[in-house]
Formats: sequence, structure tokens, C-alpha cells
Amino acid sequence: MVSVSSTLSPPLTTQILPVALSDIDFPRDADMPNVQQPSVTYTNIHKAAHMIRFHIAPVAFPTETVYGLGASALSTTAVRQIFTAKNRPLDNPLIVHISSVAQLRRVLNTKIPEIYEPLIQKFWPGPLTIILPLPAPIRNEDGSEAPAISPACTPGQNTFGVRMPSHPVARALIAISDTPVAAPSANASTRPSPTTAMHVYTDMAGRIPLILDGGPCNVGLESTVVDGTVSPPAILRPGGVSIEEIRKYGGPLWKDVITGQSDAGQDEKVRTPGMKYRHYSPKAKVVVFLGQGDGSDGEILRYLRGLTGDVKLGVLPSRLFNLDSWDEEIKKKICVVKELGKSGAEISRNLFAYLREVDEAGVDLIIAEGVGEEDEGAAIMNRLRKAATEILDNSQYIVKK
Ligand code: TXA
Ligand code: MG
Repeated sequence: MVSVSSTLSPPLTTQILPVALSDIDFPRDADMPNVQQPSVTYTNIHKAAHMIRFHIAPVAFPTETVYGLGASALSTTAVRQIFTAKNRPLDNPLIVHISSVAQLRRVLNTKIPEIYEPLIQKFWPGPLTIILPLPAPIRNEDGSEAPAISPACTPGQNTFGVRMPSHPVARALIAISDTPVAAPSANASTRPSPTTAMHVYTDMAGRIPLILDGGPCNVGLESTVVDGTVSPPAILRPGGVSIEEIRKYGGPLWKDVITGQSDAGQDEKVRTPGMKYRHYSPKAKVVVFLGQGDGSDGEILRYLRGLTGDVKLGVLPSRLFNLDSWDEEIKKKICVVKELGKSGAEISRNLFAYLREVDEAGVDLIIAEGVGEEDEGAAIMNRLRKAATEILDNSQYIVKK
């Protein structure tokens, strides 16, 4: 267990509490998990669930995509604490996490439009977020009405995003707290999303009381956000479920799914508000190279030879780069190389972790090898484009910002 006292306001001690996936059994169609008892996992999940249920403070927990920072989606005070801890812009809506479809119906009084049925059958629990119309307000005994989900979760929207994570710790936490959990990624705003408890700790120490540590996340990139409330349906954010899979398993209505916008200007009203903000940014400048083969000639070498002075380089090769072919002068500038991997799944799993790792080595410039947009490639390139200061695509300079 690691803990620290911070001078941040409010000063909190942040505990990292271990949880073992092997202690939890949560069948797909069950409403409650079986958690080994007694166990450290049982104690720690109940501690975190208590904080969520009684709106004490947001807590970080592992999901199969990235670590989330969760609080009750029913409480404006609790949701505001998430925004404060992350320093997140207040107009960026949060995804509501549920542990079962029954919970969605019961607590949020929400019917799921038919268009989502095949996707839910195939991908829930898992890395898919669906957009639903906001539920009807709840009528109190005195006749007054209150919104079913805190409006702080859905600023400016008449919809909300919902997802059932497949990670047993995430699902168990939501079920045991008996609360729909609003949870953005548990990074500080603008930083790469966290895929380990230590990443969360780096960003959030002193700002939240506890982090459940369930080890590294398996998918590594966030969920795919799909909107079936519009026609044609749209993918608002590529993620852990690929566009090809949505088309393949979604049935006829998803065959013509469009892939929404990528970036939007600061003042634009956008369908996915999160898209307009700076994202995934290490401290170092990031340059992404696309379509440069093994990197042995062409634009990449011209770029690297043009670097003057004492530049410290970090390199993230993926499928093709061969650093052996680079000039000795360039090689001398390289401080750290982290191979992202060859398969889409590997690159997805490593991307955020390696962006952080290379950045922490204190480099000035990160050179990353982009990939094609097929399968996992769309989500990988979406994140790399947002992290990038510049993208050099097949010998053409495309200045991004
Ligand atoms: O995998 C994930 O989705 C992770 C884990 C923790 O579940 N969560 C996550 O949340 O990535 P966050 O807040 O970092 O990203 C949520 C994205 C944002 O781009 C937000 O704008 C969009 O989903 N979003 C949420 N509600 C929406 C809505 N009603 N309409 C359109 N976009 C929405
Ligand atoms: Mg995020």
C-alpha cells in the first residue's frame, strides 16, 4: 500500500488498495457478484462502494479499458467532486456505468431503444458506451420532480452515455454500491488516460482518498461511444470495439454507421463535447509519422537531421520502424525507445502507458510511428492525433496546431 499526504486543497491521503480479480465471479447475466469472503478484495471493494454510495468522495477503480474515477451519478455534489479532482471542463459530460441492464431499468427508469439490442448482446459487458435519451424525471411524494441523473453528469445534453464494464472489479463495485456510477478516465484533465493504479496516483495523489489497484488494464484505450438516437447512427469516439465489429454485429441498422467528427473548435457545439479539448498530452512535444515505411529514408530522417542543439528524443516504434538504419548523430539523441507492439491489441494496450513512460524520462521530443486506420487502428490514431503536436504524413507536412 502506498500513501501520501499532499499539500493540495483539500489535503487528502491517497491509499492504493489491492484487489484480486480471481476473488470475484460475476456471470454475464447476474445482478450481483460472488466475492471471496473473507478477503482483502472484499474489504477493499466494500470500502470503495461505501464512499460511492454515501457520496463521501470519488474513488478510482480499474476497468478493462482504462482506470475510471467514479462517484454517484445521482448526486450533483458527488459528480462535482469528480470535475474538481480532475480539473475537468464543466461542459464535458460523464459516462454513467452500470453493473446490469436490470440496474439501468430499475434505478434510472430507462428503456433501451431496440437499435442497441444486437450491440448489447454482443458487447456488454465490455468497452462500448451507448447514448440514450435522458430518463423522465422522478416524481417525489410531494408531487415535485427531480432529474433521474444529476444534470452535472450531462451538462447541456438531452442524452446520457451509459456502459456496462466487463472488468469484475468495476462491475462488482457498481453492484455493491447499488449506484449508477459516473466515471471519466481517472487522469488529470489533458493527461494520457491511466492504465495502471500508479498512473492514477501520479495524477491524483492528494486529490482522492483511494485507488483500487487491479493491475494493468487489458484493452488500454477507452470505450467506443455510439449514438443510435440519430439517423444514421454515429460512432462518436472510436475505442475498444472497432467500427468493423459494430458493422458486423450491429445488424442492418448499423451497416451505414457514420464515424462522427474528430476534432472541433473551442466554441463549436459538438456532439461529443470531450472532442474539443486538449487530450492525452505528455509534457514533451509529440510528432507522429505516418506512411514512412521502416523510417530509413524520406521525411522522417530529414526531420530528425533538421533537429539542432541538444534535443533528447523518445521513440515509440510500432510495426515497421527500423532504428538501426538511422544516422549515428540521430541515435545519440535517443534517450529511450519503447516498442508499442505489432498487433492492434498490443499497441492499444501500451500506447498511454508508454507515452507516460517516455515523457517521464525527461525527453524534449517524442517520435511515434502511426498505424493504418483499420480495426484497432482507428482508435489508436484518434488518440495519437490528439496527443500530437504535429503529424507528418508520407512526406507532407501537416501542421496540426
Ligand atoms: O472506457 C471508457 O469509456 C472510460 C472508462 C472509465 O469507462 N471512460 C471515459 O470517460 O473515457 P471520459 O469522460 O474520459 O470520456 C467520455 C467521453 C467524452 O468524450 C464525452 O464527451 C463523451 O464520452 N460523452 C459522454 N456523454 C455523452 C453524451 N451524452 N453525448 C455525447 N458524448 C458524450
Ligand atoms: Mg478521458
